[in-house]
Amino acid sequence: MRALPWGILYLAASPALVPPCPTDLPGFQDWHERTTRAFFASNLEGEILVEIATTLRRCSPQLEAVPAARKCMSNFSSFFEAVTRDKLVSGHQMGASIPDEQYFSEMPYPEMLELPAELKDQELLRWLDENDDASITSALSYIDGINATIPDPRLQWIAFIYTSQHLPTPDGTRSLGRFFVYVPRKDFDQYIQFGLQQDPAGKPPNGVSVVAVQKTAAGTGEVLKIPRARLKDFWRKRDGGRIEIGTRLDETGIAENCYTCHKQATLPITPDPLEFDEARFGEKLNLVNARMASHGALDLDGFTRSAYGPPMGPRTSPLRTPEFLAACSAGRVAPERLARLGEAMQCATCHDGHVRGELNYPSGIHAQPQGGTLVSFYVVNHKKMPLGATDLSEPERHALVECLNAEYYRGFGDQPGILQAWMLEEDCWREAMR
Ligand code: HEC
Ligand code: HEC
Repeated sequence: MRALPWGILYLAASPALVPPCPTDLPGFQDWHERTTRAFFASNLEGEILVEIATTLRRCSPQLEAVPAARKCMSNFSSFFEAVTRDKLVSGHQMGASIPDEQYFSEMPYPEMLELPAELKDQELLRWLDENDDASITSALSYIDGINATIPDPRLQWIAFIYTSQHLPTPDGTRSLGRFFVYVPRKDFDQYIQFGLQQDPAGKPPNGVSVVAVQKTAAGTGEVLKIPRARLKDFWRKRDGGRIEIGTRLDETGIAENCYTCHKQATLPITPDPLEFDEARFGEKLNLVNARMASHGALDLDGFTRSAYGPPMGPRTSPLRTPEFLAACSAGRVAPERLARLGEAMQCATCHDGHVRGELNYPSGIHAQPQGGTLVSFYVVNHKKMPLGATDLSEPERHALVECLNAEYYRGFGDQPGILQAWMLEEDCWREAMR
């Protein structure tokens, strides 16, 4: 997905169409409630976000003047500000509160967002462009050669190739192949992947990206209780035989909000099973996924995760009644299995922001470029979630996805969903309007 300059369209809208801002408490309550309901009646993505955020910004002087309204709209305001920052605030295409330039350059260990010099080696980069069996074998042996110089096995690199089931590189080349390299260091770990073109006639991909996990505090070297993460896209340029690596932002002017999908900064790798060489790379893949999972929940520099809403699938929820479960599962689940369905919805026992990144907006609705959402992939296609559940049938897994989304976004009867209730802050308004 690319960030489009929606703001420009809106600035160009005729002022005659712009309704006046509310100016008092009842006015704001009415506007807040109507806007929230309209949002939840929409597809919840795209232009409507920008429309609401733009109005909110326009009316912020009036809102500042009514402190009680500002208080009861704080979840609403922080949500729309966070999810539209990439489109509405220039220089913040990553969606972080830190400007993009600073996000990429100012951090405790600036090397953590740079590619190791070894991975800019021209021979290696050419092998990746050639991308046949022999060149990939050479590239993998090159990494083995680096490892021969690293005595500590825990600091050795791990490299393999796989095909993504979820998304092509963000460079328009439709490349699903990946050359993946895990580079562990004492202070930070890097998870790096180069796009590989699997269509021999296709253009070689530009995309290279990194998820970097900071494990220690700079200066003291003390181990961080909660590691921190940053993400970055690079861009390969082929210029008269040389392959240079710049950043995607510098080369294309485009960056995007990685947190839309990377709710856990390190996303487990689930290769396309039809393409994956399990015998050759299976063990390496498992090792890398285990290292990623071992970080626990990660803090993302520049992101206030709570602004994207509470986690989906809490342990308990007032909505999760037998009537609700029967309705959201739409006949896919036998009545005697509905209680089990309700129990399987407790994703936030792990995805709670402590054990693991919380699945908040737009989890469950944001489609991957290859179709499906990460939630539907993990629950239905990969059958990996809920972790350890082996007793759920295919229809029950489909129902689980539907019910999680219904509970979070759509609500039931006249009860709002979890995200909507959080945004409406009805208790606060009741108190304020007394
Ligand atoms: C549309 C969803 C989506 C967006 C947006 C997204 N990613 Fe990912 N990313 C994934 C998925 C899913 C994986 C797991 C591997 C796979 O299935 O392809 C992944 C894996 C990765 C990996 C390999 C390490 C790991 O965590 O598995 C890197 C590096 C990466 N992404 C970087 C980025 C960067 C940088 C951005 C933002 C500029 C970004 N991604 C935005 C979905 C996304
Ligand atoms: C017992 C703990 C646990 C429960 C319960 C659980 N998960 Fe997970 N989830 C994990 C772990 C651990 C991983 C990483 C798996 C790996 O490394 O392969 C994960 C990964 C995921 C991912 C990959 C992307 C990400 O953000 O981490 C998704 C999506 C996901 N789970 C969805 C769900 C959904 C939906 C539910 C509820 C139906 C659920 N999980 C319940 C522990 C759990």
